[in-house]
Amino acid sequence: MAETTLDLRHLPKRDAYATLRENCVEVLRGVNDDVTKMATLSCLVHHAFCHLWTGFYRVVEPGALLRVGPYQGTLGCLEIAFGRGVCGAAAATGVTQVVPDVHAFPGHIACDGRSRSEIVVPVRDAAGTLLAVFDVDSEHPAAFDDDDRDGLERLLAAVFAGG
Ligand code: SME
Repeated sequence: MAETTLDLRHLPKRDAYATLRENCVEVLRGVNDDVTKMATLSCLVHHAFCHLWTGFYRVVEPGALLRVGPYQGTLGCLEIAFGRGVCGAAAATGVTQVVPDVHAFPGHIACDGRSRSEIVVPVRDAAGTLLAVFDVDSEHPAAFDDDDRDGLERLLAAVFAGG
């Protein structure tokens, strides 16, 4: 399976996400286990772009609490309340948060001091229930844009909501 962990940094972002989505759907074909899906996406997204931190915070108390799930990177904080930091904002609003400068985001939680920008995408199942948020951090300022938002939202929908 080593060849399925692709480095996609040489491609324009939209092409990279299209390739990544195909790869993830193929690798996870027939899998019906959210932890397996989260671990696999963390790995493939992280290595596709060489991010700083890539992973999931799961909803463990709907409307109240997120707890860390599968991820790649340095130690992530274990629990985040809805509404706190970027992950908590994504969970509370249900809207993807693109943060070009984490230091300018009120309440940002600094798990890794090297983080400069981040994107956090809500993850829903086919019924629309919020399962988790997907958090990607970069050591580069303003690393994420609308192509990342679109690419990650489509990837997560394909894997967790069946399209
Ligand atoms: N930066 C996040 C916290 C999680 S970590 O960076 C892994 C936030 O403010 O929500």
